[in-house]
Amino acid sequence: MALKHFLDLDVMTAPTLRDILTSSAKLKQGKGAGQPLAGRTLAMVFEKPSTRTRVSFQVGMQQLGGNVVTLSPQETQIGRGESIADTARVLSRYVDVIMMRTSAPEKLAELARYATVPVINGLTDESHPCQIMADIMTFEERKGDISNAVVAWSGDGNNVATSWIHACAHFGFELRLACPAGLPPSSKALAWAKDRGANVSVTTDPFTAAKDADCITTDTWVSMGDDAGNRHAMLQPFQVNEKLMATAKADAIFLHCLPAHRGEEVTAGVMDGPQSAVWDEAENRLHAQKGVLLWCLT
Ligand code: CP
Ligand code: NVA
Repeated sequence: MALKHFLDLDVMTAPTLRDILTSSAKLKQGKGAGQPLAGRTLAMVFEKPSTRTRVSFQVGMQQLGGNVVTLSPQETQIGRGESIADTARVLSRYVDVIMMRTSAPEKLAELARYATVPVINGLTDESHPCQIMADIMTFEERKGDISNAVVAWSGDGNNVATSWIHACAHFGFELRLACPAGLPPSSKALAWAKDRGANVSVTTDPFTAAKDADCITTDTWVSMGDDAGNRHAMLQPFQVNEKLMATAKADAIFLHCLPAHRGEEVTAGVMDGPQSAVWDEAENRLHAQKGVLLWCLT
């Protein structure tokens, strides 16, 4: 049987993603408790920093009864040039599933090609699928079925934006992306989504995107590995502030994958205000990824 990798939302099917979220919600409610992954081990490979992904995967795996080993290039032979392919072959002899956070999506693809156990994308420069599973879970907890909703992105057309684009095609919601002309969202992801009939649009005006939206979301102006350059100046007009939130529906929610920079991509008033769902969103990384782990391993 083919390995059940969780590499990107665009290579998943919509029913599978929905099944994972259903299972995640049950796990959050304490149903299906027990130790379904007893005796199984997750290896986490981090080539970039992480707080949420690291802790939520570790705790999630432990709650499911499994074990975790965490690796970084500096303390493994990857840092001395052992190939990803050989690392994949070796790790597969010890562990049952591998999660990797890395810059190059090609490295993740190489890991998945040579691993004989499932591989999970813990973020690359191009996407962050686990994040968007948690984001959709959070949206639906607050506002119900996302399929008829409008989600507005205001900011850098980055890796997190790409996974939102993939998600809108699968889950059927309207996605409006407001990005500076110099920091557009992935044209490949947009073409993929449009091919599937997704309702996705791109503008350089955040107020056009936010009008009557059910959710406004954004991300840091400078992602891991980016040069700050003139990003702050380019992205200032895309800040999610009280005025932009007021353009959305009165009961719209604010999401941010975190870490956040108050006073940059979001004001403290929005981040810490009544419409912010960011702490539930961070918590839901745990539940959503437990669903992903169970799907990969059962
Ligand atoms: N949102 C997110 O992935 O956070 P970390 O970088 O802390 O894992
Ligand atoms: N776009 C951000 C997301 C961090 C979780 C980054 O890649 O740094």
